[in-house]
Amino acid sequence: MSLSTRPQWAQTQTDLTGKTVLVIGGAGGVGEGVVRAALDAGARAVAVGRRRERLDELAARIPHPQLVVDTIDALSVDLTARSAKLAERFGPFDGVIVSVASWGGQGRKPALELTDTEWNDLLASNLTAVFRLYRAFIPHLAGRGILLQLNGMSAEIPFPGAAGRALTAAAQKSLTRTIAAELGEGGPRVYEVILGMIRTRARRLAGTDDPGWIPASDVGWHVADLIAGTSPLAGNDLHYFVDVSAGPEGADSMRPLALPRPAGAAGAR
Ligand SMILES: NC(=O)c1ccc[n+]([C@@H]2O[C@H](COP(=O)([O-])OP(=O)(O)OC[C@H]3O[C@@H](n4cnc5c(N)ncnc54)[C@H](OP(=O)(O)O)[C@@H]3O)[C@@H](O)[C@H]2O)c1
Repeated sequence: MSLSTRPQWAQTQTDLTGKTVLVIGGAGGVGEGVVRAALDAGARAVAVGRRRERLDELAARIPHPQLVVDTIDALSVDLTARSAKLAERFGPFDGVIVSVASWGGQGRKPALELTDTEWNDLLASNLTAVFRLYRAFIPHLAGRGILLQLNGMSAEIPFPGAAGRALTAAAQKSLTRTIAAELGEGGPRVYEVILGMIRTRARRLAGTDDPGWIPASDVGWHVADLIAGTSPLAGNDLHYFVDVSAGPEGADSMRPLALPRPAGAAGAR
């Protein structure tokens, strides 16, 4: 039974049989799409998150023998021990996909109206959480396995009313690319993937859907192609997936996001 539709741009030779993909935030809107595509590509998928009931619902929706669910909390004191336990049972991981996000409890609020507590919570639940996940799980990647962070356009552009989410997204991008540079060639591969609007189950249930948005499982097929090494973007650490028909693109092809030329630079008029 197919759990997703392989998009037209995806690589037909991608086969993850015998591979294990850990999806942190696997019961989330985007994470579920990654889980579905990984299973369709033949992998074992280990979906983790904080809430047991959300994970159990995922397992009930996807009754697949290769799906495992378990709980972890990126901010818990025992994260390192939990990651070692998961790795002992299922690792080393061919893919560790970080698909976590928190909007905080403050709702939409101008940046300078955030209280110290709200500010600190947003930093912890988005930035510190991702840092701790990298530190705990990178040691459990297979030799040429991938660490991949799913991020949003808030990493790039102002997001009025959601400053905490936007500035942590920008910092997550910086952290991920810094680790990619620090690890260099030859070891685990590290990717930052910036997404546009995603068609998620939660949005569908809330009655908001748009065929112009990107199906969550399309994101999963991009991830599968990267794990398999079949993606033409495998050599580029920064990808944008913002246009459903174009599919994922390497950073260089995103001309609108290029920095403006400094005044007086060659070619400036
Ligand atoms: N949805 C979109 O349209 C969209 C668009 C662009 C980019 N993105 C990006 O995609 C990523 C995932 O977003 P989403 O929409 O799928 O969010 P989501 O539905 O809220 O899912 C977030 C997941 O993160 C998990 N999580 C949060 N904090 C955690 C922690 N401390 N430890 C362990 N797990 C934790 C949650 O687990 P629990 O539920 O158990 O707490 C949940 O499974 C984010 O980086 C987001 O910026 C999403």
